[in-house]
Amino acid sequence: MSRTYVITGTASGIGKATAERLRADGHTVIGVDIKDADITVDLSTDDGRTALVREVEQRAGTIDGVIAVAGLVAASPVTVGVNYFGAVATLEGLRPLLASSDAPRAVVVASLAALEEVDDALYERLIADDEPGARAEAERIGTTTNAAGSSDIYSTTKKAIAQWVRTHAADGDWAGAGIALNAVAPGVIETPMTAAALQTAEGRAALDAGAPSPLNGPAAPPAAPAALLAWLTSAENTHVTGQIVFIDGGAESIRRPNLI
Ligand SMILES: NC(=O)c1ccc[n+]([C@@H]2O[C@H](COP(=O)([O-])OP(=O)(O)OC[C@H]3O[C@@H](n4cnc5c(N)ncnc54)[C@H](O)[C@@H]3O)[C@@H](O)[C@H]2O)c1
Repeated sequence: MSRTYVITGTASGIGKATAERLRADGHTVIGVDIKDADITVDLSTDDGRTALVREVEQRAGTIDGVIAVAGLVAASPVTVGVNYFGAVATLEGLRPLLASSDAPRAVVVASLAALEEVDDALYERLIADDEPGARAEAERIGTTTNAAGSSDIYSTTKKAIAQWVRTHAADGDWAGAGIALNAVAPGVIETPMTAAALQTAEGRAALDAGAPSPLNGPAAPPAAPAALLAWLTSAENTHVTGQIVFIDGGAESIRRPNLI
């Protein structure tokens, strides 16, 4: 049966591939991005987040799925605004519109980078839902990178959004309302975000060191996470919730082999 989805980040990469996949399957997709989208908003701002909800309400009374993909890697406070607060605002702001769906589902894209070192002070401000404080911490962190070469700001936002899913999935607003809520954590995906690094041997080696992928090679096409996002938000997914599903060719299992 045809469903209605809101997907952020549809102008490029994983969000674009997910929108294409769901449209090809006969579903309605309302695409959201800062450019080239059905709803054009800046998710790093309060105004953009408010406009997102208002415009989705105007276009669709009920939605069946929310897929929060928009994000960036820049070592900047804007990354805090989009990857964490923009994603939370997307999920929380659109949750009431999921309520009247027969099979409501939501998912956010985190990252394998969530397993990297994080900045504790920034992490604390994110979990405390303190955006001005988090942005101030991001200014302080600047361009510091972790051992895997990714920005401390990026890895911290991705760990925090994954934790947000763990914290909220089982509560009354989500599981209690019949809404499955999960995160997908990609390793390396071939998108404009990784294109520059994948172009050089040095860049590929650095990505492979941080995210070794023994299953099917170093970088997956965006169609791979798109298929996973589509299933997690399908009516078929009746019982998977609260999970951080790694799609990384095995990197997470290498990184932390012990189940407990
Ligand atoms: N590509 C990878 O290897 C990889 C790995 C792990 C996680 N991710 C995550 O997957 C998601 C998608 O990444 P991608 O690789 O497709 O990147 P991408 O750069 O191709 O796409 C990201 C999209 O987000 C949009 N966006 C950025 N800032 C925005 C804002 N302020 N408001 C609205 N939209 C905004 C961009 O315009 C773009 O269309 C991101 O959250 C990213 O962190 C990607």
